[in-house]
Amino acid sequence: MEYRTLGGTGIRVSVAGLGCGGFSRLGLGTGKSEADAIELVHEALDLGINLFDTAAVYGTEAVLGRALAGVPRDRIVIATKAWIPRGAGASAAEVAVASLDRSLGELGTDYIDIFQLHGVSPGAYERASAVIAPALAREREKGKLRHLGVTETGAGDPQHEMLARAVEDGVWGTIMVAFHMMHQNARERVFPRAIANRVGTLSMFAVRNIFSQPRRLRVELQRLAAHGEVAQWLGQAPNPLGFLIHEADGGATSVVDAAYRFVRHEPGVDVVLFGTGNPAHLRADVASILKPPLPETDRRILKKHFGRLVGIGLDPPTDMPSFARH
Ligand SMILES: NC(=O)c1ccc[n+]([C@@H]2O[C@H](COP(=O)([O-])OP(=O)(O)OC[C@H]3O[C@@H](n4cnc5c(N)ncnc54)[C@H](OP(=O)(O)O)[C@@H]3O)[C@@H](O)[C@H]2O)c1
Repeated sequence: MEYRTLGGTGIRVSVAGLGCGGFSRLGLGTGKSEADAIELVHEALDLGINLFDTAAVYGTEAVLGRALAGVPRDRIVIATKAWIPRGAGASAAEVAVASLDRSLGELGTDYIDIFQLHGVSPGAYERASAVIAPALAREREKGKLRHLGVTETGAGDPQHEMLARAVEDGVWGTIMVAFHMMHQNARERVFPRAIANRVGTLSMFAVRNIFSQPRRLRVELQRLAAHGEVAQWLGQAPNPLGFLIHEADGGATSVVDAAYRFVRHEPGVDVVLFGTGNPAHLRADVASILKPPLPETDRRILKKHFGRLVGIGLDPPTDMPSFARH
């Protein structure tokens, strides 16, 4: 594993972080048992992963807590999140603090390393920074959390309007940002200022459905080609990203491999979050994240064809209630 310092937080984190949400939810979202999920977390630890990202709404805090119970607390970095409903009104800060207290209980820990506000829309940002963050800062003084973070909504804010503000105002130690081969605009809109202000970055959506399901990718590229948003050949090819796969001279071994390597080496990305419930995928994904960058020619082609696309492949899990689709 490789480690790096997460922005100005000073925390040493593995460059691969296990996401406990998304479609997989440690496998609980794809029919696996809690025992399987615990085994997966143990295998992640064996691979050197020390950062785990969960959330109150994922339903994985308790199983993650059980899986990490025997591990010295200072060897792991726990990130979780509070979802604040729009209708919380004047009690938004109390809702956040109550969520923090519940997360501590579910995870079975005395403190959260990175406590994040979950899926904050541009319209909810003012409340998040001016009302909720100060209340959570008081909880930090009590030792319940180490750093505050904020995550964007993905599909609801494809231009990263919320994060463009968050990286400037000194409130957040970390941000979570959507970035992948066909949604690259964080390169201009988020990363330069996150680097300048030493805000730690966790990337999400590296693969999701669009790169893990060949049919989804084909259909999306057909749609984009029909609208003139990508070259016609990309809409017609049976394996449109096949040009990335040429292992013999440093190219990718698969589209998923390419997707993780693409994100991992982007300047400004500290941690690549990845989600899986499948031990073989866990091993493959970590291996991909630790490989060198994609060849320069392939990165140039990805930028040329997809660099202007916005908001592709950010679809939420449909089997979760709308408030929990992150
Ligand atoms: N707004 C937010 O706060 C927000 C939103 C989205 C995500 N997140 C965080 O980011 C994390 C990562 O997002 P994500 O879970 O969507 O991860 P992801 O890595 O982008 O995509 C994971 C998907 O790809 C599949 N997959 C993984 N490795 C594979 C492989 N080698 N071959 C084929 N398929 C593979 C997984 O299914 P299998 O189980 O079959 O491997 C899963 O469906 C989440 O878990 C969560 O912690 C936060």
